[in-house]
Amino acid sequence: MMKALILSGGKGTRLRPLTYTGAKQLVPVANKPILWYGIESIVAAGITEIGIIISPETGREVRAKTGDGDRFGAKITYILQDRPLGLAHAVKVAQPFLEDASFVMYLGDNLVQSDLDLFIDKFYSKHLDALTLLREVENPSAFGVAKVDEHGKVLQLIEKPKVPPSNLALVGVYLFSPSIHEAIANIQPSARGELEITDAIQYLIDGQKNVESFKLEGWWLDTGKKDDLLAANQIILDSCLDLTIKGEIDAPSKISGRVHIGAGSRIINSTIRGPVNIGNDCHIENCFIGPYTSIADETTLIDTDIEHSVLLKGAKVIGIHQRVVDSLIGERAQVRLAPQRPKALRFMIGDDSQIELT
Ligand code: DAU
Repeated sequence: MMKALILSGGKGTRLRPLTYTGAKQLVPVANKPILWYGIESIVAAGITEIGIIISPETGREVRAKTGDGDRFGAKITYILQDRPLGLAHAVKVAQPFLEDASFVMYLGDNLVQSDLDLFIDKFYSKHLDALTLLREVENPSAFGVAKVDEHGKVLQLIEKPKVPPSNLALVGVYLFSPSIHEAIANIQPSARGELEITDAIQYLIDGQKNVESFKLEGWWLDTGKKDDLLAANQIILDSCLDLTIKGEIDAPSKISGRVHIGAGSRIINSTIRGPVNIGNDCHIENCFIGPYTSIADETTLIDTDIEHSVLLKGAKVIGIHQRVVDSLIGERAQVRLAPQRPKALRFMIGDDSQIELT
């Protein structure tokens, strides 16, 4: 039986200042943690034995939020990696869980649109030792990069090369046979001090093992930055939005398009034009909420016009009738504006921030 290993440890520094302490894998896209999309896709491929690598800093949060797997129809085992010593190091730490099973390794901060089934079929039918998922990108130097032959056989892998041998980046989904463990036992830490999975795969290639690639045509977001996160939010709101309306909507309010409103939320004298996802226990009064907006639980919006934005849990935006666009507003962040003020505002505001323009 194939197992799955999701890497949700690491340092989590890239989303600063949005999350200083929080796990980047738990940042929500359309009000669902990024990590959960990976879990759902693994379960959809029929894999229910899932190990999740966690770190001492954010492990508790990942675990508390995600649970034992019941909600996904899976069995989740949490595996503590003491220090973020690399993707291959994480596999090493997980070896007692993985035993001699083949497994899918999924980076918990990646959001990938693709059925894993096709990928798994190729792995088994061609008796591969490793199968990597690749996608053409404009900035290959920011990723692991692969050189492949015309049949998709992988010839060379390099982690974040200054001079990339191709524009094919490694997407954070890999399939491995148990031979990866021996490869990992034989590699040394890289210049940045990490045991690199790319080096382990290169070891397999050098030992004439079967390493092939699968080219991803659908979208992929390695959601590090504000614009990536807004783009991911837009794609997810377009493709999968649960259209239930549980909250209360008063008579003067107008709701159009594809909209989700969670339990306990109140919409008062407002216009909502979907796709929009509003979580639970939100207070929305005298607002225009435009397309591609996700509003997490316990958020307050009063006298505000906003679209194409993401608000995290407990955020408050009050008094901004100039339209707020392309904004990412962190947990419990507050933005208030006195009447009659500037025309355009663009924000990236981290957790616990407070901005008052008076
Ligand atoms: O996103 C795709 C890229 O992911 C690939 O193209 C690269 O080849 C691959 O090395 C990786 O690069 P990143 O620099 O983006 O890796 P990052 O440090 O962000 O870690 C990826 C995930 O793995 C993240 O959820 C944190 C987790 N992680 C990372 C390390 C280094 C661990 O759980 N343990 C670790 O030791």
